[in-house]
Amino acid sequence: MIENFNGYIDKESDEYNLLLEISKKPLPAHIAIIMDGNGRWAKKRGLERFEGHKAGIKSVRDVVETSARLGIKFLSLYAFSVENWKRPKKEIMQLMGLLKKYIKEELPTLKKNNIRFKAVGRISELDVSVRKLISHAESQTAKNSGLHLNIALNYGGRVEIVDTFKKILNTYGKDLKVDDIDEELISKNLYMKDTPDPDLLIRTSGELRISNFFIWEIAYTELYFTKVLWPDFNRKELFSAIKDFQNRQRRFGGI
Ligand code: IPE
Ligand code: IPE
Ligand code: MG
Repeated sequence: MIENFNGYIDKESDEYNLLLEISKKPLPAHIAIIMDGNGRWAKKRGLERFEGHKAGIKSVRDVVETSARLGIKFLSLYAFSVENWKRPKKEIMQLMGLLKKYIKEELPTLKKNNIRFKAVGRISELDVSVRKLISHAESQTAKNSGLHLNIALNYGGRVEIVDTFKKILNTYGKDLKVDDIDEELISKNLYMKDTPDPDLLIRTSGELRISNFFIWEIAYTELYFTKVLWPDFNRKELFSAIKDFQNRQRRFGGI
């Protein structure tokens, strides 16, 4: 795995020492990230919020590339919540514009690096121009076996559970008996049915909340909060989060 960073990381750097350290222990299979703090990053610099979102794209690229090099299997990024429609129309348009630009520009890299792209959330409610790009990127990368990159868009943890119940009823209808309802049935009808629950959830910007991300899935996820604002989150920050995770003792209710 370390070879994947040859030529990318200076071997004299702190970053490289962190990489050596985390390479000795098992890595999280699934990392989920609440990418927060773009607006505050811009404000601190006297810039428009949009500049913060633009700068945040650089962190997305860095984290996706680093996760792929590390051999992480699943990476889920919270990009737009169902609650984010409360923002000014102009900001929503800008966010959707950046998303479209990201997908267009990144698709060749995703393909080259064997990354599978998937959007999770109420995708059908998004503008047709966004949906077209998403389904194109999904179909072009569907057979890739490297990093599985999930982008949560128009996503809400509670609406996901609502959608899951609807899907179950649509599939089984009157054949569904009370005793058929169990955790496994719910889990396998969620948006990401083939994805294991996150091992590590990172939230940037110092807010200590979940903001409706992956409510069902994070029952036993290790949580990592950092004050770093999303546009400042980079490879080294990711290594630090993983190192912290590796020093946790996961008990899942046992002893
Ligand atoms: C995260 O940054 C990006 C999205 C929620 C889309 P914010 O835009 O929430 O930035 P802050 O929290 O206002 O600093
Ligand atoms: C959470 O950030 C949503 C995303 C990162 C997409 P918000 O900035 O929307 O969350 P709150 O409003 O601070 O809880
Ligand atoms: Mg925020």
